[in-house]
Amino acid sequence: MENKKIELIRLLSQADGKPISGEQIGRKLEISRTMVWKYIQSLQSQGYSIISSPGKGYILNSVPDFLLPELVQAGLETDILGKDIRHFMELESTNDYAKTIAKDTTEGTVVVAEVQKKGRGRRGFDWVSPHGGVWISIVLKPSIVSADASRLTLVGGLAVVDSLKSIGLTPSLKWPNDVLVNGKKICGILTEMEAEIDRVEYIVLGMGINLNFNTEMLPEEIRDGSTTISDELGTYVDRLEFVRSLLYNLEQYYVHFKTQPFEELMERWIDSSDTIGRKVRIVTPSKMVDGRAIGISPSGGLLLQKNNGSTEEILSGRCIY
Ligand code: BTN
Repeated sequence: MENKKIELIRLLSQADGKPISGEQIGRKLEISRTMVWKYIQSLQSQGYSIISSPGKGYILNSVPDFLLPELVQAGLETDILGKDIRHFMELESTNDYAKTIAKDTTEGTVVVAEVQKKGRGRRGFDWVSPHGGVWISIVLKPSIVSADASRLTLVGGLAVVDSLKSIGLTPSLKWPNDVLVNGKKICGILTEMEAEIDRVEYIVLGMGINLNFNTEMLPEEIRDGSTTISDELGTYVDRLEFVRSLLYNLEQYYVHFKTQPFEELMERWIDSSDTIGRKVRIVTPSKMVDGRAIGISPSGGLLLQKNNGSTEEILSGRCIY
């Protein structure tokens, strides 16, 4: 059922506003005209505006502004990510949900919600997630040791950077998990995992991208340091296209991550970095260290040249500058 629906949407979208007859659709999809009509009705009930022009056929007028699996998949050019997409109008947290299904689901499964009621940021902070954003979690099952899991946060950041560049923005990366535009946070990444001592069972890569909503929707205390894509561009962007681009870019980097040495991705991260070269303060639950960020370590940590001249690898912490 779902595959035929995806094919039908693809067919109608490719027609560029010209009608396609029930007979043509039936032939292409290898289903009866009655079934075509059933699929059309089902799509209409989901919010698709499909005009039925007597004697001519069906025209797709508009699609709902939801990240529905069949819409994302209709133009998705990936082999691993997004083959299984779980979409929710509302969820407490896509990361939390993804963790409940991760063990029994295939690598690349995507969980996406229009709104999150209890979106989570790093260090237990809330992540405010109104309609218009992209709140997404991706289940990954790489053969890595848990010490290397933070590399995937960097991989996720690289994918977001490419997708933001493709819509005309100039993003940069703040270690460990922020993507900035004009010095303000536009995306946060929350990487969580289930692991045994020597082996990661799964990773949930959660990304929150402030897309089509106004910064005014965010709590006052974070408003000044945050921005959204629509505020930066002064216009709304196609969320579906953005998600497809994000999954595509993430897959490219993920395949690279699994098959090539990590150094190249580290260099790429450094090229887009806002952090490297800066004087920073790192705050961890147990200490506070000042110094200059001079690089990224092989496990995705920050290399900090401390004020006494020695270098320390910081594996996690809050980076302030
Ligand atoms: C941060 O910068 O603190 C990380 C924010 C991560 C937010 C995303 S939104 C999708 C996924 N689900 C969550 O509950 N959190 C992540």
